[in-house]
Amino acid sequence: MSRNQEPLLSNRPSSEQSNDNDLAEEDALLTGERVQRPSGNDKIKWREWILFGWAFAATAVVIVLAVLYQNQKTTQSHSSSTPSGKRNLIFMVSDGMGPTSLSMTRSFRQQQYGLPYGDILVLDDHLIGQSRTRSSSSLVTDSAAGATAFSCGKKSYNGAISILPDFTPCGTVLEAAKKEGYMTGLVVTTRITDATPACFASHVNLRQEEDLIADQLIGNHPLGHTVDLILGGGRCRFLPNTTSASCREDSKDLVEEAKQKGYTYIDNRKDFDSLQTGNGLKLPFLGLFADEDIPYEIDRRFEDDTYPALREMAETALKALSAATKNSDKGFFLMIEGSRIDHAGHGNDPAAQVHEVLSYDHAFQSVLSFIEKEQTPSLLVGTSDHETGGLSAARQLHETYPEYLWYPEVLANASHSAHWLAHAYRDHLAASTSRGDGDKKKLKHYLRKLLKEHMGVHDASSTELSTLIAQPEIASYVFADIISRRAQIGWSTHGHSAADVNIYASDSVSAKPLVGNHENTEVGKFLRDWLDVDVDAVTKELRRKSR
Ligand SMILES: *[C@@H]1O[C@H](CO)[C@@H](O)[C@H](O)[C@H]1NC(C)=O
Ligand SMILES: *[C@@H]1O[C@H](CO)[C@@H](O)[C@H](O)[C@H]1NC(C)=O
Ligand SMILES: [Zn+2]
Repeated sequence: MSRNQEPLLSNRPSSEQSNDNDLAEEDALLTGERVQRPSGNDKIKWREWILFGWAFAATAVVIVLAVLYQNQKTTQSHSSSTPSGKRNLIFMVSDGMGPTSLSMTRSFRQQQYGLPYGDILVLDDHLIGQSRTRSSSSLVTDSAAGATAFSCGKKSYNGAISILPDFTPCGTVLEAAKKEGYMTGLVVTTRITDATPACFASHVNLRQEEDLIADQLIGNHPLGHTVDLILGGGRCRFLPNTTSASCREDSKDLVEEAKQKGYTYIDNRKDFDSLQTGNGLKLPFLGLFADEDIPYEIDRRFEDDTYPALREMAETALKALSAATKNSDKGFFLMIEGSRIDHAGHGNDPAAQVHEVLSYDHAFQSVLSFIEKEQTPSLLVGTSDHETGGLSAARQLHETYPEYLWYPEVLANASHSAHWLAHAYRDHLAASTSRGDGDKKKLKHYLRKLLKEHMGVHDASSTELSTLIAQPEIASYVFADIISRRAQIGWSTHGHSAADVNIYASDSVSAKPLVGNHENTEVGKFLRDWLDVDVDAVTKELRRKSR
């Protein structure tokens, strides 16, 4: 092993043993430059004195500069960390997005658009810290406990929707904001009754109680209506079980109830477009654009006339809330979730995930642009509730030692998600009348074509096709595995992981308490502190009223 391959900080010879050559090499290693050294003992002594003097002076200068800089920073943060008057807070959640999702999406984007390796995501430029995500019941949290940490600032058990481990409700930052005169909104790409949005404006023991969550979201709740603006999916929970589009167990018509409470209701893209991105929107407002989840971005972009993108919903909400608070001395609190990054992780589908992350990145940029133009001081804070999938950007496929790489170009060739392919396959099976052995050849032909046209996979193996034919019920996982292997993307679970997740902000000075590594509950506490709202008072009110 040659000297400059040795690790920098281990096995360095002590100075007694080192000769001039060693010193020169050490300096070269530490400074990156080769140094010429005079020889002879007298010269060395002189050199040491000069070096000592120089080091002493340099240290003094550094200390003085550091003190000055620190002073300046402290004054800055005192003057601007929390605005004194009216303010807006936008909280973004990238559900299930861990640090590897960022690395994967960044490389994918560079590959797809021919960008240099220094090209980064908008998110990358706003990273300020990391959040530790465990819940009260497990080292690996679910979205419900994760969002309860944000909404209530407290740890709870997996499955809890703003309910504490002792099964009492905890007030949320959104409820406290509403009570103190802020306008509030929730924007998601999943069902609005799913765990993350639910935690901001409802209280149930288990996330599965989505009928009850829908009830509470429109104000059938001791606190009355607390959400002024809702945009997302999950329409079926709001329709009575007497209609075919319903997924409720009872015959309540929540759309009708919401209208009676004064909500404006829309359920399609055409009506959404006629809102002129927010200007024509009257609060309170309920916009539900899909029976359940809004399709993955990778699929949605081909159905642009049916479903709005996350960025469009975010822009609409920002405009509407800003307009609605124009003459108020209080601003707004808006939660925007990139909900389905998580679903792509559960499905182990890397092509679907990179498009979800990019879509979230676009929405993040939209919020930044809004903040730049907005008169009222506004802050954007974003984080994830947990990582999903145990994603790794590299994968060993064989027993032989792997090369260090993965292939973003494989993802760039996919035009649809594994979920979409599985649906197409299921419809195909349902439509084909005869399914005897003689049709296996035809089915393989169909699957090859499907994979080629929609996933960019030209080399499906006979084993892969046989698995798809033998187990059509897990086709989505098989399709996802087919593309993951070719991209050499690895997954360790279809569930969540305990990885620390990133924290982002539009402004690291205002969000200074979140710089560094934090417990997820500290994110929740920061939200209420920054808005200066009394969440504990809401907790007391909830306990009194739910007794
Ligand atoms: C619909 O809900 C009502 C209660 O509201 C229930 O009695 C009825 O059985 C439900 N019908 C179906 C088909 O589930
Ligand atoms: C991507 O698709 C093109 C054209 O269909 C094909 O020639 C190419 O081999 C594919 N690349 C990868 C990495 O799959
Ligand atoms: Zn989640």
